This record gives sequence, structure tokens and C-alpha cells, in this order.
Amino acid sequence: MGPENGPDATRKKIFVKTYGCQMNVYDSARMVDVMAPSGYTEVDQPEDADIVILNTCHIREKAAEKVYSELGCLRDLKKEKSGRGENLVIGVAGCVAQAEGEEIRRRAPVVDLVLGPQTYHRLPEYVGRLSNGGPGIVETDFPADDKFETLPAPERRKTLARGATAFLTIQEGCDKFCTFCVVPYTRGAEFSRPVTRILDEARALADAGVREITLLGQNVNAYHGDDGKGAAASLGHLIRRLAGIDGIERLRYTTSHPRDMDDELIAAHAEVPELMPYLHLPVQSGSDRILAAMNRRHDAESYIRLVERIRAANPGIAMSSDFIVGFPGETEQDFEATLALIREVGYAQAYSFKYSPRPGTPASAEEDQLPEEIKSERLQRLQALLGEQQIAFNRACAGSTMSVLFDRRGRSESQLVGRSPYLQSVHIDDAPESLFGQIVDVVVEEGYRNSLRGRLLETDSVPA
Ligand code: 5AD
Ligand code: SF4
Repeated sequence: MGPENGPDATRKKIFVKTYGCQMNVYDSARMVDVMAPSGYTEVDQPEDADIVILNTCHIREKAAEKVYSELGCLRDLKKEKSGRGENLVIGVAGCVAQAEGEEIRRRAPVVDLVLGPQTYHRLPEYVGRLSNGGPGIVETDFPADDKFETLPAPERRKTLARGATAFLTIQEGCDKFCTFCVVPYTRGAEFSRPVTRILDEARALADAGVREITLLGQNVNAYHGDDGKGAAASLGHLIRRLAGIDGIERLRYTTSHPRDMDDELIAAHAEVPELMPYLHLPVQSGSDRILAAMNRRHDAESYIRLVERIRAANPGIAMSSDFIVGFPGETEQDFEATLALIREVGYAQAYSFKYSPRPGTPASAEEDQLPEEIKSERLQRLQALLGEQQIAFNRACAGSTMSVLFDRRGRSESQLVGRSPYLQSVHIDDAPESLFGQIVDVVVEEGYRNSLRGRLLETDSVPA
């Protein structure tokens, strides 16, 4: 198959598969953007592509293993294509590329290009070299040139907006060095983009029909970008500026560190209506002993007090978090302290993981690693509690009216799915097509574990 005889035959094609976090989603779109001037268009399956890039995640074990198994399939595809006289360039980008480097080409010699997250703007140059028969390339430097400045201007990006919601990376890297985490090694030191660049990108997104922007950064509330007057702007300041852009009706940010929640940001939660009342604020553990071993730089009490201050600023805010169970040396008592913290804070939603030793991180060298059975058992108990809280939160929404941004189609033809201010999925049946991309009021009829069902508020008013 394929358009060999069509007008498209000379176009070259790129397929990028994304693993992991939202920043990888953003980066994958930018890789497509940087290849566009060289004549590449995006396709949605590897069979149709001249270049396949796996944009990888290294945060937990399974993500890396999935990459290696995918490379096995791509090896077969490359062989098949080469039998037909076609070439296929295979690249591995993202955090596995950064962490494993040369090892990837040793384990999977089919890979032509290994590219860390700070160098994807050089993709056209590397693909050019490979197309001219050059040897395989491994690039895991943290170059001094700013990759964001090298990207095509926002308004010229093919993949700028794919609907009414968009991600916008404002900060990258992390200096916190939690002892379990690879991010400071794979993404490097903290870097914040200048305010003007972010505002330009946000304006271009608004012009392209985006209504909701999620600001991204590995440690996004450590944002301290150049404000154009020689000072550093905080995230709270940036949010106020973004909220002033016509068309931008909703703002979110992720992921934050408790130590970087400053007064200006907390005040923004009280005063900026565009800032959605939902906050993902990872705590990881409720045990002070474990938090210290994790180098989290806060204890359980200070986290709880912080949540109280945030709720004082915005009482309706829904909290979310990340948790790790089975960190080296975690006792039953430590684990119970985590359950206690969850009961005290009350979460609308949360992510939880079994600790997985990441090569090169301090915690992976600890001797008192926990057996898999204990990790699994604790994860189950933790998720049962978080699940109860999530269901309770969703059920309590029944009967209320909330604004929903419709951005997906549902299972049936006439069903639309959107997002509530609290990031819940909201389904409505018999939805007019015209609602797509719109923010409208919905009456919630029922809350389930992972979603809400509602109806349009307008249908309440009986025509005269
Ligand atoms: N093991 C388990 N979970 C981890 N996370 C990060 N590193 C690890 C690890 N080594 C989790 C943390 C973090 C989220 C993005 O992934 O909870 O907040
Ligand atoms: Fe990793 Fe987040 Fe800790 Fe940074 S703050 S080291 S990204 S867990």
C-alpha cells in the first residue's frame, strides 16, 4: 500500500512514537516540526515512514523494556523495507537515549541514531548525514545552543495545535536530585524559557484555536524565566501574563515540587480565574524518614500545611499527587504514614508506583531494597485508598454544574468527551458536533471511578 503513484510520492515521511510524560508529547511534535522544512510530513504508522523515532521515557523500568521490544519489531520492518529497496532510518530519542547512549546501539544495532532530549533540534542535520550513508550517530551532549530558539517560529509549526488543548514547555530539567529519580541526569540542569517566547507561543496557540494550555516542566514551579527587564519572572507572574491573552480561557501547569510553591503562585490560584482549580503536587511518601532518604527537602507536616495554605487561597481546589511505595528501607510503619497523609489531604486523583531502581541514582545503590511482593502488596493497598477517594470526589460532583471543554469524541457517534476544571473526563450523549472545541456548562448526572456523565445545561430550559 502507500501513495507511491500519488502526488505525495516524493514526500518523505516521519513517524514518532511517544512514551512517558506530557513533555515527551510536546517534544515529539517539535521533532515533526523541525523535520518539516526538509520535506517531511508526519504519518501515524511506522510502515509508512522513512524515519521512525521512538521518543522514550526512562522514569520507570518497564518504559525502557518496551522500547527494546519495539526495536525488535522495527528491525523486522527495516529488513522488509530493505528487501523492497526502501530505506528506514531508526532513531531513539528522549530519556532512554540520554541514559543509555551507546548501549542502545550495542543492544539494538538496527538503531541509526541515538538522540538525547536536549538535541532534537539537530535532527535534520543528523538525518541528512545518515541519508548520505554516514555512520550511526549517538548524541547525548547538553549543547550550549538553545534548542527552543532553533525551532521553527510557533506560527510556522505544522503541529502547533491539534485541537482546543495544548502543551507548552516553559521549563526543563531539574536541580532537586531526589535520590530515586533519573530526571536531573537525563534532562539536565534547570532551564527556564524567557517570558516573551512563551507569550509568543501562547498567542500563536490561541490564534490556532487553543483554549486550554498546560504549562510543562519537570519542575515547572521552579520556573524563573527572563522577564525581559533583566529580572526573573516567577510562575505566578507568568500565569497572570498568559491569562491576559485573548482566547486563552484555561491554564494548568505540571509537575510541581512542594518547595517551589511560592506566595505569588498560591495567590494566582486565588486571583486568576483562568488558572484551573486542580493541582498536581507530588509528595511521594508520608514518612519523614523516607522523605529524607529521598532527598525531598520537605517533611509530611510541611506538605500538609502547604496544602492548607493553597486551600485557604482556593477552597475548591482538587489535589493530585505522585506516590512511590517500596522505597529502599520503607517499613510497614513508613508506609502507614503515607496512608495517613493521604487520608489527611484527600486527593481527587493520584498516580502511584512501585519503586524501581534507576541505574546511576543514589537510591538504586541502597542495600535494603524491598522484595517485589511487599511492593505489590503496598501498592494495592495504596491504590485501594486512592481509588476510594477518587470515586468519592467524582460522586460528589453529581448534581453540580461545571464548565467542560469538549476535546474528544466518545465511543458512540453522538458522544463527546471533555474535561472538567478538575481534569475529570466528562461524557455527554447526543452532543451537537458544534460543541467540539468549546467550553460549555454541563450538569453532572453521575460520577464514576474515572469519569463523569452529564448533560448540557441548555437542555434544562424548556422552550416557550
Ligand atoms: N521508581 C518509581 N517511581 C518513580 N518516579 C520517578 N522515579 C521513580 C522510580 N525510580 C515517579 C515519581 C515521580 C513520577 C513522575 O514518577 O512519583 O513523581
Ligand atoms: Fe525527579 Fe521531580 Fe525530584 Fe526533580 S523534583 S529529581 S524531576 S522527582
